[in-house]
Parts: sequence; C-alpha cells; structure tokens
Amino acid sequence: MKTKDTGSDAKFAAKITTEDASALGALFKDSIADLYWAENHLVKSLPKMISAATAKELKDAISNHLEETKGHVKRLEQVFELLGEKVIAKKCDAMEGLTKEAEGIVEGTAPGTATRDVGIILASQKVEHYEIASYGGLYQLATTLGLTDVAAILEQTLAEEKLADSKLTDIANNEINYKAAEEA
Ligand SMILES: [Fe+2]
Ligand SMILES: [Fe+2]
Repeated sequence: MKTKDTGSDAKFAAKITTEDASALGALFKDSIADLYWAENHLVKSLPKMISAATAKELKDAISNHLEETKGHVKRLEQVFELLGEKVIAKKCDAMEGLTKEAEGIVEGTAPGTATRDVGIILASQKVEHYEIASYGGLYQLATTLGLTDVAAILEQTLAEEKLADSKLTDIANNEINYKAAEEA
C-alpha cells in the first residue's frame, strides 16, 4: 500500500470513522435482532425436522443442534446485555424462507425414506450456511467496532454452526445418499 500525506488523511479518516461508527453500530444492532429472531424460529422449527427424519444419526445430530441452538439464543441475549440494549427480535425473512423450504421438502417426500433424509440434510445445510455467513460477518463487524467481548461470544456460536454443517456433510456422505440412490 502506498504511503500518503498523514496530516490531512488522518483528519479525513477520523471524520469518516466517527460517522461510520454510528451507522455501523446501528446496522450491527439490527443484524443481531434479526439473528435473534432467526435462532428463536429455529428452536420451533428443528423439532419438526427431528420427527420427520428417519436415520438415527440424523435425528441425533439435529437434536443435538437443537440444544446448541437454545444456547445460541442465550448467547445473543448476552450480546444485547453487553451492548446495553433491550432484547429485541426483528423478523428474519431469509430464515422464514429457509424453514418453509425445509417443510416443503418434508411434505414432498415419503415418510421413512432416505430420500426425505437427504432433503432434510440439504435444507438444514442451507440453514447452517446462512448462520455461518451471519455469524462470520457479525464477528468481523464486532471486531471492527472494537466490541471484543461480543466478538468472542459470536465466535463460539460460529464454531458450533460450522461443526453442525460438517456433521451433516458426514452423515450424507457416510450412508444416506447411497441409500437414497438405491431408492431411486
Ligand atoms: Fe444457531
Ligand atoms: Fe445452526
């Protein structure tokens, strides 16, 4: 990177930083409220996927992630507290769409089949990827805003979302996709 005249640039940078900080702070709080709605929605939606799934390892993986998801809700409540904000949920259209899609897959496949399980895995991984993108981005933003404690909390959840995603990949690779191909 090219070195610039520090005098005027420093003033310019300070001005931008102050303005950006408040706009970024507002965007950050909004995004946390959005994620809070999304996690609460998942607490209601995941049990439907557990009862629709057939393979024990898939049921167990989603059940385990449901418990983690309840913890994600609690962690976001800690984030609101650290920010000195009231806990607020803002409807997340993306998560509503993803869970509707998951329910549509369940409706469109026969009970007790590996095909339905594959569909549940596909839909669940879309959810996990959405969460990974959200927590990854907000972790970076918290770091940029100097919110170290908040960033550390978001990082813990991010790690669990990544593990849940790779667990689903393992389940699909290990057995279910082959079984589904046999059903075809
Ligand atoms: Fe989560
Ligand atoms: Fe998740």
